[in-house]
Amino acid sequence: MHADARSPIGVFDSGVGGLSVLEALREALPHERFVYYADTAHAPYGERGDAYVLARTLAVANDLVEGRGVKALVVACNTATAAAIHELRALWPGLPIVGVEPALKPAVAASRGRIAVLATRGTLASAKFRRLQETAAPRAQVVAVPCDGLADAIERADAGEIDALCARYMQAAGPFGAGAGETDTVVLGCTHYPFATGVLRRHAPASVRFLDTGAPVSLRTRQLLAEAGLLAGPGAAGGIELTGSGDLPALEAAARRWLAPAPGAQASKDTDPAQRVTPQALPAA
Ligand code: DGL
Repeated sequence: MHADARSPIGVFDSGVGGLSVLEALREALPHERFVYYADTAHAPYGERGDAYVLARTLAVANDLVEGRGVKALVVACNTATAAAIHELRALWPGLPIVGVEPALKPAVAASRGRIAVLATRGTLASAKFRRLQETAAPRAQVVAVPCDGLADAIERADAGEIDALCARYMQAAGPFGAGAGETDTVVLGCTHYPFATGVLRRHAPASVRFLDTGAPVSLRTRQLLAEAGLLAGPGAAGGIELTGSGDLPALEAAARRWLAPAPGAQASKDTDPAQRVTPQALPAA
């Protein structure tokens, strides 16, 4: 299918996590139309192994690129990026494709002590993460914390389980402080985790910084679209279409909860502002 500047941008994740990236994309690119694909029927990806994640990523990307004719693809999932970004670029060499990776480079620039990377087991075990660590942080003290179950608990909005898992993983990420060998920076290396930042923060001093990747990913997407002459015109009405392999009403409810209402956002039609929380906090958690 031929894509042009009026075509939508495809964004995908194993589930609701990529909404944290979509929010930043929409802010940086208000005139664009987005198709957000949540592969909920096959989530979580993080503990399933590379072959599974690669197969799912190729299937979803094929749906977005060939089926819906997107003009760019944002892989809003660290686990899928680590497992499949090279294959995606080889399959669609002319298509702007943006992946996400844990914000280790900005963490190294900001940290004076130890850096904790919270991510899925798949991301942390990947060759891509090993290379990132070797190039971005060869001398930094980095503690990698695989957060089994956390993306799944966020997916199910299970406040009790989110609380328990955040407590356990922040314990592994510490001790926190500004002294030698203490953690002063926490990298959220999974796009689900920004929705639990409020809970994670409760387990660390206020001075600890939390980094995610939404903003840099949206800037990179804008840059690639500009270079390709594919930016939507300033008169274009932006919007969001939600789709996926799972329960659409549940995805719409998550989008209402986590995305700021915006004109054209299908899932925001009947947003009740009282129901909405910022991406930094989960309800009742
Ligand atoms: N949101 C994803 C990531 O950034 C994947 C979470 C999962 O499905 O395990 O890694």
